[in-house]
Amino acid sequence: MNMKILNYKYLIITLAAFFAFVHVRAQETEFHPGKLWFDNNQRLINAHGGGVLYHEGQYYWFGEHKGERSNAAWVGVTCYSSSDLYNWSDEGVALAVSKDNTSPIVAGSTIERPKVIYNETTGKFVMYFHLELKGQGYEAAHVGVAVSDKPTGPYELVKNDRVNPGEWPLNMTEAQRNATDKVEDYEWWTPEWTKAIENGLFVRRDFESGQMSRDMTLFVDDDQKGYHIYSSEDNLTLHIAELTEDYLSYTGKYIRIAPAGHNEAPAIFKKDGKYFMITSGCTGWDPNEARLLTADHVLGEWTLHPNPAVGKGAELTFHSQSTYILPVAGKKDAFIFMADRWRPENPIDGRYVWLPVLFEDGMPVLKWFNKWDLSVFDEK
Ligand code: DGJ
Repeated sequence: MNMKILNYKYLIITLAAFFAFVHVRAQETEFHPGKLWFDNNQRLINAHGGGVLYHEGQYYWFGEHKGERSNAAWVGVTCYSSSDLYNWSDEGVALAVSKDNTSPIVAGSTIERPKVIYNETTGKFVMYFHLELKGQGYEAAHVGVAVSDKPTGPYELVKNDRVNPGEWPLNMTEAQRNATDKVEDYEWWTPEWTKAIENGLFVRRDFESGQMSRDMTLFVDDDQKGYHIYSSEDNLTLHIAELTEDYLSYTGKYIRIAPAGHNEAPAIFKKDGKYFMITSGCTGWDPNEARLLTADHVLGEWTLHPNPAVGKGAELTFHSQSTYILPVAGKKDAFIFMADRWRPENPIDGRYVWLPVLFEDGMPVLKWFNKWDLSVFDEK
């Protein structure tokens, strides 16, 4: 071979190797809310509407895999692992969609807001997610339950359904349970209709079939009791339902929160024995103003407070919608507000907005940071 061609060949190979090398990103040491976030393979993290499980020194981030055109599930629930929360390794698909058209999680169904908890009694990892059956829009309003022996999966679907059929919420009065008015008696969005919703019109409508369950999260209390928190009653009212000891079913105990309050995207945490929940309003994929609720007991009375976000962009929760509140392991009172900046026209480009939960007078406050790191929690 001609020497000149050989030299060019070497030059090209050397340059390619050099660019491949410099392309490998340095380890992250900060969070950059709203910016592109890459995994260990230099691919965009694809885990939207997610939640994080901490287990034996590792964090596991589960989320919706999104494609470029559709919000439907064509892959399933993804999983990433990390020991420092900044750098995430791709662990693949934890719950895969099915090729079988008769499966509730067939490719093209809708799988949203997956959350995983670990059951100490059974040693199983339990995933709950919002499931909408293929071709039925958002009508099914099911919760899906899947189980695995390992945090990263594979998870197997155990069941999917509505919640607590034939059970009344603990905080619905006898009069409300026995009322005889019907959905057709009202025109939607009128003051009378709102009053009727508050009085449990939709709970009665769905009593036999079970309560609707859309946006959701899970919470394990200090006593290891598990709770499923979900937008019910056509997204008008939040419910909290207690789980059985194995986390696979419901005990039948549940409450309604903020009836007719139109809350989505619940994210909950506990600090100093008090329960805090951040939610959003209901404006589809568009951001809106966050809300804050507090309670002294998880199945107790919840009180609504003003938007915990402050400063520029607070009225749209910094262009994001809550998905989970992550307690940082080993740091006291350190919680990360995890939110999604949805991009429904190109869902894979949806961004993650992670912000520290700060406290003022004992109440959570969300402020925008262009970048931040975990040392923010040491500055109290
Ligand atoms: C808002 C919810 O929070 C999302 O999870 C998703 O269900 C969209 N609505 C669909 O419009």
